[in-house]
Amino acid sequence: FEVNWDAEAAEKGGYEHFMIKEIYEQPKAVRETMTGRVEKDNSGVEFEELKWIKEDVTAIKKIAIVACGTAYHAGIVGKYLIENLARIPVEVDVASEFRYRSPLIDDQTLTIVISQSGETLDTLAALKEAKKLGSRVLAVTNVVGSSIAREADQVIYTWAGPEIAVASTKAYTTQLIIMAMLAIYMGSLKGKLPPARVRELCQELRELPNHIYELLEDVEPIKTFAQQYGFNEDVFFLGRSLDYAVALEGALKLKEISYIHAEAYAAGELKHGTLALIIEGVPVIALATQKDVYEKMLSNIKEVKARDAVVIGIGLKGDNQIEKYVDHTIYIPATDKFLTPILSVIPLQLLAYYAAVTRGCDVDKPRNLAKSVTVE
Ligand code: G6P
Repeated sequence: FEVNWDAEAAEKGGYEHFMIKEIYEQPKAVRETMTGRVEKDNSGVEFEELKWIKEDVTAIKKIAIVACGTAYHAGIVGKYLIENLARIPVEVDVASEFRYRSPLIDDQTLTIVISQSGETLDTLAALKEAKKLGSRVLAVTNVVGSSIAREADQVIYTWAGPEIAVASTKAYTTQLIIMAMLAIYMGSLKGKLPPARVRELCQELRELPNHIYELLEDVEPIKTFAQQYGFNEDVFFLGRSLDYAVALEGALKLKEISYIHAEAYAAGELKHGTLALIIEGVPVIALATQKDVYEKMLSNIKEVKARDAVVIGIGLKGDNQIEKYVDHTIYIPATDKFLTPILSVIPLQLLAYYAAVTRGCDVDKPRNLAKSVTVE
């Protein structure tokens, strides 16, 4: 009698791939990220590991966010949230570019490096460069005791749990939660956010795990789209403002694991080139969750529909217009506009996953890619 103990299958806990397991771990992961940080009575956000006072925040004249890959996309959302909620100017750089562009960083700059692994070489080198220029460095990472955690002045851990699949999912959503909490934290310390607004945001943050859970309950329509369009060679992702940031991450996910050529475009840039590539049957994923640019987004959707693209719209529940203009709609639960990326990315992760499965790709270990890039 012999027991065949497959350690990897056991670690996957019944899921076919680590990626889908990690997608499903997101409600729990984002809840852990908030635990002990979002006050129980929703009165604010506390970071035990920072313990900043008002002066720590008012001293920051500029924030530089530096990261690679998916973490860089979290940084783009971070810029939007911090600038809006805390009114501090933020620039975001890909780590490999930051190092070589002679950045204007000094002791009045806070550098935030974001890295799931805490070992990405370019991000680590950018951190060292920022320190050399006199900047304080805050690391947002998932791995306790990683090189980036050790080199930074202060560390916020995402507490997502181990992420094994090369394509990042739960690390991204937990990084977004940190970005939102940091923005609220700095905004309230600076006096830029009234207590009622803070409470509203905290309440919405707490609802997110349930909303993600809801999105993961019915994946059949997404599976069907993936099977229908999974063999197309080009896919376009369009969005404005925060939806554009999520479009970038959706396109990256699709490229990484399904090898479909995917491009994300700020919808307003369509006419400056991309529209030339929109022909009959090309799938376009159009995100339309941001009310302040909603009408403009609808016009962009009409533009691609007029060229016979197949449009999958991502809209907010309760939006009864979008369906009239697109071929298929995926609805996400309504939440505060600053928190929508944490929900709208979920269908895009699932779409990439099922497209890769449809094409028979090695989902967890895509060709040519590594989980952690420790060379330049
Ligand atoms: C690699 C991974 C990505 C990740 C990026 C940054 O490219 O495949 O999933 O986003 O590195 O990694 P980090 O560990 O620094 O977040």
